[in-house]
Amino acid sequence: MLVTTLNTTEYLMLQSQNTSLVLELPVGEAPIWRYWGPKVRDKAPHALRASRPLPSFMLDFDHPLTLAPGFGVGWFGQSALLAHRNGQSFAQAFTQCVVQWEQPERSVRVVLTDPVSAIELTVHMSMDYPSDVLTMKSSLRNVGDTVLDVQWLAAGTLLLPAQAQSVRSYAGQHNHEFLLQTDKLSRSLWRRESRRGRTSHDCFPGAVVTTDGSTECAGLVYGAHLAWSGNHQQTIEWLHDAQYQWQMGEWLAPGEGLLAAGATLNTPELVASCSTQGLSGLAANFHAELRSRLNWPGGQMRPRPVHLNTWEGFYFDVYPEKVKELATAAAAVGVERFVLDDGWFHGRHHDRAALGDWWPDESKFPQGLGDLVAHVNALGMEFGLWFEPEMINPDSDLYREHPDWALQLAGRPLITARNQLVLDISRPEVSEYLFGKIDALLSVQPIRYIKWDHNRDLTTTGLHDGTAGYRAQVHAAYALFARIRAVHPEVEIESCSGGGGRIDFGVLRYTHRVWTSDCIDAMSRVDIQRGFLQFFPPEIMGAHVGSACAHTTGRTQSMAFRAAVALPGHLGVELDARILREADAAELKAWIQMYKDLRERLHHGHVWQGAIDDGIVWQAHGDLDDAGVASDVLLLVYRTQPTNHRYTPRLPLPMLYTQAEYRIRQCVPAGTVLPTGAHNTAPFFDALNSAEGLLLDGGWLRHAGLPLPRAQAETAFIVRLTRV
Ligand code: GLA
Repeated sequence: MLVTTLNTTEYLMLQSQNTSLVLELPVGEAPIWRYWGPKVRDKAPHALRASRPLPSFMLDFDHPLTLAPGFGVGWFGQSALLAHRNGQSFAQAFTQCVVQWEQPERSVRVVLTDPVSAIELTVHMSMDYPSDVLTMKSSLRNVGDTVLDVQWLAAGTLLLPAQAQSVRSYAGQHNHEFLLQTDKLSRSLWRRESRRGRTSHDCFPGAVVTTDGSTECAGLVYGAHLAWSGNHQQTIEWLHDAQYQWQMGEWLAPGEGLLAAGATLNTPELVASCSTQGLSGLAANFHAELRSRLNWPGGQMRPRPVHLNTWEGFYFDVYPEKVKELATAAAAVGVERFVLDDGWFHGRHHDRAALGDWWPDESKFPQGLGDLVAHVNALGMEFGLWFEPEMINPDSDLYREHPDWALQLAGRPLITARNQLVLDISRPEVSEYLFGKIDALLSVQPIRYIKWDHNRDLTTTGLHDGTAGYRAQVHAAYALFARIRAVHPEVEIESCSGGGGRIDFGVLRYTHRVWTSDCIDAMSRVDIQRGFLQFFPPEIMGAHVGSACAHTTGRTQSMAFRAAVALPGHLGVELDARILREADAAELKAWIQMYKDLRERLHHGHVWQGAIDDGIVWQAHGDLDDAGVASDVLLLVYRTQPTNHRYTPRLPLPMLYTQAEYRIRQCVPAGTVLPTGAHNTAPFFDALNSAEGLLLDGGWLRHAGLPLPRAQAETAFIVRLTRV
């Protein structure tokens, strides 16, 4: 490791394929933020203070934004840390800086010391060259000899340019995750935080900042996400030089940041990126980063197998004979992995009892799960099983034996949610118990998949000693995931939390799929999945074809629309396939086959997304070449509302070569007729449906746009464009 001790003003520069980050390194201070954005060739042409005269009635020494702004010593904005020692040492300013390069221009540790408050902060930054993703994390060491109480420690502090205009964040709730919220930045502080003890449905730990003129596929945008499955907070603050600072980190409950002498507090990772290719370019960067993190059994992703999940088909009513019939019906339509959801374990017949008692229910499976698993395997499908390890029902054998294992606060009533409490899994005996129960099942049956659920927010989160346990709970969950993965490396895990309450890059170190939402109404899913795809790639997006009508909304959609919306994700089926009408079963089977034919195209490339203000939402999947354009594109166009126009607007396709021709064919599942509506016939669309398709100019399609059919609401139009 190359260590540079600073004695002159220098610069620190990280470079990726398309972006640069520049910090100025003045002597005796923390590094000053100079730049993060599209690639610049050189550092900064001059020291910052040399170019900004002091304003009137201000401090006599300029305090610009640093990599680690402190509190109380000249910086008035949000600080990267807030800490004190029993009321003293409440102010921090770093006066020593050591830069330790791990890899030139790519990866660096900046070690900052404040000898007065006896703290040492290490900020780790690394820039991934191909994906343009910047990863930051911080460690704060108490080098004093008394306890340091840390109230806030940012994982990282980022600089945003003056042209930052709006912030797109995601609110939501159970059954509607990734609800887009757009706020205009102003001369104030924008803040989002979550104290629910999990990633949450309500407040996704991340956001996208757009600049003036940026769009879905063009212009400068910035994004950041905290790779963490617990409490979190982020702020974007206007600064007096018209720029903004963006901080993100774990929200610490009182006492969670108490650091004994010599102890260190480590933050989760902040994953950030910027792109001049608009929201879709930014999404591609995050997708690339996540793809490099996913830890697949066998080292690489297999084609994503089609699921059937028993939940909405049977709920708790999972009696073996009917489950076997369902498996048979599932195999007949092409399902490849059969997942037995809730209801299979001891005493679990409703949601009021049994969580914690993780062995097969004697009334349903007196001989255990073996017979069912063998039936599923004999049909050529893998078997998967639902668990909710971190939870306990007061009505369970486990609770009757160990009531003290639930997170609780002395003197306060227990607060149930969905009739359940949360186990203190940071207690070794609790995680040992859970590991033992899960391991016992995985060891005797060829179970290849776990759906790992977490169906409530944390309350009364007191550990055994009465201290707050939010942070400990997340670390203990990660440790349990890791232990199961280590002992059963062939098993894939899905992260579910009442749908999408635990979707983040942290949990995705151990998991391979997420249950995007409990809402599988295709209309709702268009929006939910659009938000999801801003940060996460389609191959991990659990997307199921549900029944008509949808259980969570009461709306009814055609099989074609339900399947077309689920198609780009990791496809599944969640309905009682035994009772499908013959025509519906045949249609579902055809869609599943189409998914199998297309999944290779869908699950590794670039995703562009957009909307036309006529109820049309689209996404395109393709590979980008060095020129930033694509040769083979699968385009999915969803009409969510009836048109407002007599003639449907065309769709420009910004990912196509202008100097090439494309053959375009409509993708229709074999043997089915898409219900696009009565008015859509025109020779152009008939030609798209022919074996040869149509040859069209890329420049024309890119700028003038692709004609879209005159379709009814809640229909999809899918075409493949191949460069000739
Ligand atoms: C949560 C999940 C559902 C299902 C139920 C089972 O709500 O999101 O998919 O697994 O739990 O209780």
